[in-house]
Amino acid sequence: MRGTRDRAAAVQPSRPDAPRYRHAVVTGGAGFVGSHLCAELLDRGTEVTCVDDLCTAHPDHVRALTGRPGCTLLRADVTEPFSVAQPVDLVLHFASPASPADYLRLPLHTLETGSLGTRNALALAREHGARFILASTSEVYGDPLEHPQSERYWGNVNPVGPRSVYDEAKRFAEALTVAEAEVHGTDAGIVRLFNTYGPRMRGHDGRAVPTFIRQALAGEPLTVTGDGRQTRSLTYVADTVAGVLAMAGSELRGPVNIGNPDEITMLDLARLVIRLTGSSSGVRLIDRPTDDPMVRCPDITLARGKLQWEPRVTAPDGLARTIAWFRARERGD
Ligand SMILES: NC(=O)c1ccc[n+]([C@@H]2O[C@H](COP(=O)([O-])OP(=O)(O)OC[C@H]3O[C@@H](n4cnc5c(N)ncnc54)[C@H](O)[C@@H]3O)[C@@H](O)[C@H]2O)c1
Repeated sequence: MRGTRDRAAAVQPSRPDAPRYRHAVVTGGAGFVGSHLCAELLDRGTEVTCVDDLCTAHPDHVRALTGRPGCTLLRADVTEPFSVAQPVDLVLHFASPASPADYLRLPLHTLETGSLGTRNALALAREHGARFILASTSEVYGDPLEHPQSERYWGNVNPVGPRSVYDEAKRFAEALTVAEAEVHGTDAGIVRLFNTYGPRMRGHDGRAVPTFIRQALAGEPLTVTGDGRQTRSLTYVADTVAGVLAMAGSELRGPVNIGNPDEITMLDLARLVIRLTGSSSGVRLIDRPTDDPMVRCPDITLARGKLQWEPRVTAPDGLARTIAWFRARERGD
């Protein structure tokens, strides 16, 4: 039952005009965004091989996926070369620790996944003549000096700060993807995802939305870093999935920003979660992490114009769906 409800909460109807892939490989497919991508591809009739070393995956995602016909889990670390026997026409490279708590715990693995893992995923796409999409991130913009951030902005990243293991791995992965397309003609594209949230996030993964929801449901103070005036742009996962698949179906190389331009301060986000959960929790200000960006907001002119994509789910709506999912998990249904 959980799988059914879970999918119904998160997935938008498939676009009838979307290309039909026969077989997609999704690296990191057992993770938060990857598992939603796998589910949407399976809904569209695509067979999916999910390649994941399960270093940050929740066991429930894996069980939900492997229980579906057409879905195979290949437990492998993409930093080592891997192969898939059956022909592949789409590779979505989503493997990487993504939450600060995870990449600070796994710094070398994060760097190797962005570099060696991207090299190996690109080699698989080249071998099969498949379309390749790299999941890059708004973190390539660092603590931005331009606002909002368009794809033309080169970023302001500290190359040796604690977050550099993630930011620089993704910047290298972007450079590798572009070079691979130039040198070998691989049909490769890059999406820069902004903060995505929704059902199946881990309550303790350290990202703001699951942390606030977990704290609000437990009646604990919501821990907002700094003075709470720093902003984020939050994209509901179904919108992110639609954007990634629109990019896959295009011939664009990108990079293309996929994110919701509705910007919200962390303090307002905490208050919104308190209101939507009906919690009696308050807010507690705590220290801000090193190199935490002050602002984050995508310019999505390119995605709107070239992919006819834009986010549809508002923050109150997406948060309500996410809260409902966290509540259902607490009840165990
Ligand atoms: N969620 C977001 O807000 C967001 C924003 C920008 C970019 N992204 C990108 O999207 C992707 C997925 O993010 P997520 O939020 O779902 O994170 P997640 O941690 O939930 O999922 C990542 C998955 O990759 C797997 N993985 C990590 N290293 C691996 C390796 N070497 N070999 C095989 N599998 C490996 C993990 O086990 C996990 O299942 C990441 O590449 C991330 O950088 C996410």
